Amino acid sequence: MMFIKVRSNLWLLHTLVYCVLIIYLKVEGASDQVAITTIEGAVAKGAVCLDGSPPAYQFDAGFGEGVNNWLVHIQGGGWCNSVSDCRTRTYSLYGSSKRMKSSDYNFTGILSNKQELNPSFYNWNRVAMRYCDGSSFTGDIEAVDPATNLHFRGARVFNVIIEELLGKGMKSASNALLSGSFAGGLASILHCDKFKALFPSSTRVKCFSDAGYFAHVKDLYGEYKFEGYYDQVVTLHGSSKNLYRECTSIMKPSLCFYPQFTMPYVQTPVFISHSTYDTFQVQNISATPQADPSGQFAKCKQDINECSADQIQKLQDFRSEFLEAFLVAQNGTSRRGWFVNNCFTHGQCEYQTKWLGNPSSKLNHKAIAEAVGDWFYDRNSAVQLLDNQNVLPHYCIN
Ligand SMILES: *[C@@H]1O[C@H](CO)[C@@H](O)[C@H](O)[C@H]1NC(C)=O
Ligand SMILES: *[C@@H]1O[C@H](CO)[C@@H](O)[C@H](O)[C@H]1NC(C)=O
Ligand SMILES: *[C@@H]1O[C@H](CO)[C@@H](O)[C@H](O)[C@H]1NC(C)=O
Repeated sequence: MMFIKVRSNLWLLHTLVYCVLIIYLKVEGASDQVAITTIEGAVAKGAVCLDGSPPAYQFDAGFGEGVNNWLVHIQGGGWCNSVSDCRTRTYSLYGSSKRMKSSDYNFTGILSNKQELNPSFYNWNRVAMRYCDGSSFTGDIEAVDPATNLHFRGARVFNVIIEELLGKGMKSASNALLSGSFAGGLASILHCDKFKALFPSSTRVKCFSDAGYFAHVKDLYGEYKFEGYYDQVVTLHGSSKNLYRECTSIMKPSLCFYPQFTMPYVQTPVFISHSTYDTFQVQNISATPQADPSGQFAKCKQDINECSADQIQKLQDFRSEFLEAFLVAQNGTSRRGWFVNNCFTHGQCEYQTKWLGNPSSKLNHKAIAEAVGDWFYDRNSAVQLLDNQNVLPHYCIN
């Protein structure tokens, strides 16, 4: 009898602990979710998503010492290069604010509000600029074909969201960082000086690009086929007038969509976080189906454990080419920073384990979160970290 009683008490205790744990986890999870704001007034200005719906962002207010600091993080999600591709996109959250939910973009990694997870930016005003135009926010075409109702207005969307944030207090920021991942990481480079120009010179303004350094390099066939894809994106969206003029005046506009051709003209300090074996670039720029018609690379490009010695060598050649294209980003300035590792991954700042907390993604004993913080606040003279030791492609977390 006594024995049974003790056991049932233990059982109760266990149940209680579980309940508390579950409630705690729910609250924790929920706190990463930030409500979406749509800018209805932007529709009249023609600043709209592909389907004509209003632009959207998520805003989490700063607190404590961070109240005057602003992080604007641009969401990624590829591009669309044809009318049919863009139409498909209007049925997704990447083409219409009607399809967006707060839970499809959680505030983790660089957007986290927890000091232990995001020590440099946790208490800033943090904004996620939602991506719904398919052109890295560069498009601007007035005409709308009634047959498709597609709006190519990414640049206007960018401007209208930034204007709204300036009005919410960003214009008197002490510190401001324009960041982004993937296609958003590209956007943070392409819009960097424009962003900086909105602030008085007393504001410290910098830009951070994560997995946005899409390189103009040869594919497995030795050709530059991906260039044709950017030709289509830039033409379809009318992007050229929103790219760096110093670049478009000397080469075709779609090349200026590549950081390596535009970064020589970017004046504002930029930090690049990137993996030389970025999976998107391995799959879409190097080992594309066109460059690998017999599908020899099909398995390897999904899982590096499936690669033959010869394929690993080809990946290393790709790394060398990438680093050559990356030289431009490194050129001559200690105001630029970088964190370049050799992980087989795509994007490292939105994912908590890659941003901070996993020992394998450290360079010079610094996680990306620490490197970016040091660079932003000028804590070190130069934060320029490139992994030249562990050069084979590898998985960095589990
Ligand atoms: C965001 O968090 C919620 C709740 O924890 C989860 O259900 C959802 O899958 C997360 N979204 C993403 C994109 O990870
Ligand atoms: C990139 O590659 C993936 C996987 O092979 C494919 O599904 C996707 O359509 C490609 N995207 C582009 C823009 O080439
Ligand atoms: C570095 O910048 C200088 C001055 O802007 C330029 O002349 C030089 O060609 C650049 N080098 C590379 C590798 O881009």
